[in-house]
Amino acid sequence: MTLKQSLGVIGAPIAHSLSPLLHEFIIRQYDLPFTYSAYHVEKESLAEAVYGAQALGFRGLNVTVPYKKDVMSLLDEIDEFALKVGAVNTILFSEGRITGYNTDVFGFLHSLAVENVSLSDRDVVLLGAGGAARAIVLAAKKGGARSVMIYNRTYEKAAALAEKMGCVAVSQDYFTAIPDHAVIINTTSVGMHPNVNASPLPQTLFRADCLYIDIVYNPQNTLFLQYATHAGAQTVGGIGMLILQGILAMEIWSGKSIDLQQNFGALQDLLRRALGAQ
Ligand SMILES: NC(=O)c1ccc[n+]([C@@H]2O[C@H](COP(=O)([O-])OP(=O)(O)OC[C@H]3O[C@@H](n4cnc5c(N)ncnc54)[C@H](OP(=O)(O)O)[C@@H]3O)[C@@H](O)[C@H]2O)c1
Repeated sequence: MTLKQSLGVIGAPIAHSLSPLLHEFIIRQYDLPFTYSAYHVEKESLAEAVYGAQALGFRGLNVTVPYKKDVMSLLDEIDEFALKVGAVNTILFSEGRITGYNTDVFGFLHSLAVENVSLSDRDVVLLGAGGAARAIVLAAKKGGARSVMIYNRTYEKAAALAEKMGCVAVSQDYFTAIPDHAVIINTTSVGMHPNVNASPLPQTLFRADCLYIDIVYNPQNTLFLQYATHAGAQTVGGIGMLILQGILAMEIWSGKSIDLQQNFGALQDLLRRALGAQ
């Protein structure tokens, strides 16, 4: 009998995480020698949790809110890309070493490719300057965006992120000056369950010529996306990014290449059903 190695996700809160469902599906599909569970970890126990998982022979961990930054000081090595983002969402335990990666950037870019959407030569307006925003700024740059403007409720955070990433922080006044065919990306948690009746932009600002992307995936059809659809604009939701960052993490842990085309549709249905049932 093959001994199964443990994988898991650590965060707080973690009870509603879709990661176990997503990863158990991939583990079954590819007959991988892993099990995957969610672990609620308090801030003061983060180091114990990571080193404990290593001591117990875990293969890896996903790291989610609020520890993607904090966990970095506990690792032996950090992948160049995760260093650029300044956040780790995937940990690999291998040969006595702990290595951190960030799969959010490529998860986001792959999710746009699946939807046949490109950021190349487009003006991007990013709403939010939290942990996820850092990955999306880098993705926008990698994806060939012409310009990246960052708006955040707390202006100082937008200014700090813009300075670090070589973009521009803007105030609310910019909303009436957004260029034609811009891409507006919501990376804030506004509209996320249970506060589903909130949008990071007022309805009057939505336009048919822009593309609206929301990385919030619970609910699937956020008020932000509903306003965009109502304005006649194209939209992309957050489930694709969630799936693809997970697949990329599983590739790191298993060393196997996982077929996106073959699994994306089934995973999308699975997660949509689970979200519908929440
Ligand atoms: N699809 C995916 O795979 C994926 C991956 C990562 C994250 N996400 C989603 O992305 C969202 C953000 O995650 P995160 O890790 O970046 O969170 P975070 O670090 O806590 O950042 C939250 C951001 O939202 C802003 N914000 C929060 N409440 C607000 C309000 N009432 N009005 C205006 N702005 C508000 C914050 O602004 P201030 O700076 O002013 O507080 C900050 O910019 C979450 O919903 C998460 O589920 C999705």
